[in-house]
Amino acid sequence: MKRTHHCNELCLEQAGEDVVLSGWVHSCRDLGGVIFIDVRDREGRTQLVFDPQETDVALVEVASKLHSESVITVSGKVRQRPDETENSKIPTGQIEVVAASMEVNNEAAVLPFQIDDPETAAKVNEELRLQYRYIDLRRPEIMRNMQLRSKVATATRVFMEEQGFLEVETPTLFKSTPEGAREFLVPSRISPGEFYALPQSPQQFKQILMCSGVDKYFQLARCYRDEDLRSDRQPEFTQVDIEMSFIERDDIYELIEAYLKRVWKVALGCNIETPFPRISYKEVMDRWGSDKPDTRFGLEIVDFTENFASSEFKVFSGAIDGGGVVKALNAKGYACVTQGQMEAMTDTAKSFGAKGLAFIKVENGEWKSPIVKFFSEEEKAALQEKLNIEEGDLILFAADEWLNACEILGKIRLYAAEKLQSLGKLVVPKDQFNFLWVVDFPLLAFDKEMNRWYSSHHPFTSPVEEDIPNLISDPKSVRGQHYDIVVNGVELGGGSIRIHQPEVQKTIFEEVLQLSSEVSQSRFGYMLEAFKYGCPPHGGIALGFDRLIALLCGADSIRDVVAFPKTAKGSCLMTNSPAGVEARQLRDLRVEIKIAKKEE
Ligand code: AMO
Ligand code: AMP
Repeated sequence: MKRTHHCNELCLEQAGEDVVLSGWVHSCRDLGGVIFIDVRDREGRTQLVFDPQETDVALVEVASKLHSESVITVSGKVRQRPDETENSKIPTGQIEVVAASMEVNNEAAVLPFQIDDPETAAKVNEELRLQYRYIDLRRPEIMRNMQLRSKVATATRVFMEEQGFLEVETPTLFKSTPEGAREFLVPSRISPGEFYALPQSPQQFKQILMCSGVDKYFQLARCYRDEDLRSDRQPEFTQVDIEMSFIERDDIYELIEAYLKRVWKVALGCNIETPFPRISYKEVMDRWGSDKPDTRFGLEIVDFTENFASSEFKVFSGAIDGGGVVKALNAKGYACVTQGQMEAMTDTAKSFGAKGLAFIKVENGEWKSPIVKFFSEEEKAALQEKLNIEEGDLILFAADEWLNACEILGKIRLYAAEKLQSLGKLVVPKDQFNFLWVVDFPLLAFDKEMNRWYSSHHPFTSPVEEDIPNLISDPKSVRGQHYDIVVNGVELGGGSIRIHQPEVQKTIFEEVLQLSSEVSQSRFGYMLEAFKYGCPPHGGIALGFDRLIALLCGADSIRDVVAFPKTAKGSCLMTNSPAGVEARQLRDLRVEIKIAKKEE
């Protein structure tokens, strides 16, 4: 008995036909001796009827005893469902299959959790779902995500092929070149004491491929980063990785806009507007306090540095005297903030080193705040005008160094937006996609603890040509040719035009980032070497494929779009990895373990 159709295929057109279906017992109901089974596969489900009037009584008996999720193959005749028993919610809802014979391919044991009701299934503890991921993946909601993922991967390959890209695979056994995230190391057996590292991205290989003349490269690349995990981060993940020769930034913007337009069309059937806005890093930080702003709602940050430069209120004027800024945000309608929520926001400010979080609550026509008494009439008028202050508003201030002040209010903006949404005072449209490019990043950022400059993207990013002479004398002023693509508060991807002159790359490594020449040689010597023998100008980008799919699926976490994800602690609960290995394996690798075994 081989199946003739999948479980989402049959409709009135096939009424009267003999068919064979295979799948899982989704649900089983006994209505006065007549057994109704919904058989389900990847595509959908179909109702089977086992009626003692029409089907062998022994078979009806077997059907009545089937556990959920047993695997069956059933043959029978398609018929129109009787009036009033149609189910308009599913595509096969107009028909049913009257069973003639059945094979039980596999009888399922009692399940660790039920999946027939989507609402109950979604509430099952995630750890249990991940332990039994094969059952969880059968849920139509998750299976749909897998199908969409596959469809978008195919669309990606088709699009890239049309645009003349070559798909090239790069090694996953790479070498340690620490910059950015921590790496996963793999000990070598053949060279005892030496290690491979799993690549954080194919960055160096794709640049080398440009030196080889590949011209346009792409790959759905697996990347590995040993970093703290969150809902949008996995230790292994996939990038749509791209590199091109003889291009400028605009070429990347155009390519990615066309690509995302295609993806949204294929996946959701909708048209997204291009080109996307291009907004400088300075402006996104000033207005939204984040380099990945969610621009679907307002609550924008406003600058008051000029207004408070000589204020009586020393917290503000003092910060400005010290080279800082004063910024504020109107959390519209949030004067009802609770004590606990106010403390949570103040803690955010304090985590950036601020002494507190000044505020004004507007209640009963009054500005309630311990600090308003220090404000002059002009200062109040400026606040009123620029923040459009109304009854019920909550104004929050940050007086700090520019970056700190932006980041504090950026975090508070998101926090307030979430609370205002749950109060029904703010609507953030779920099916709207606000894409934007963040451009004009500074090439370098300063690490106060380490007292040194580091690359704000990665060390292969090219400075803006005319800023190259300032690399040593004024690193802060050097602009990078780096760009990020952002949508709804998610950093979807990032890339840059690269350095292709060996001497500029060497200056960045050795004089700006202060790697010793031995370290720069041992880690990146082959790149500097490759740049000497004919390196085209080039640039590229990588999009987080898991994040892309999560956006398209409306999933809150990328775990819902990865077949076998790891938990926040980096473990796979299904296979129980990571796990210990045998002493013999360690001996082969000449690896010795010195940590005390963790207490049980
Ligand atoms: P970057 O480090 O910005 O750039 O990564 C590009 C994109 O990859 C996604 N991403 C992740 N997704 C899931 N889990 C993670 N742990 C994770 N880390 C990153 C993000 C991010 O925007 N080689 C450069 C690109 C280039 O310059 O061409 C790179 O990897 O969506
Ligand atoms: P103080 O005079 O230190 O008691 O501070 C007065 C108010 O200003 C309090 O509400 C503090 O929470 C707030 N505050 C202190 N430092 C800052 C700052 N850097 N930015 C914004 N508000 C602050």
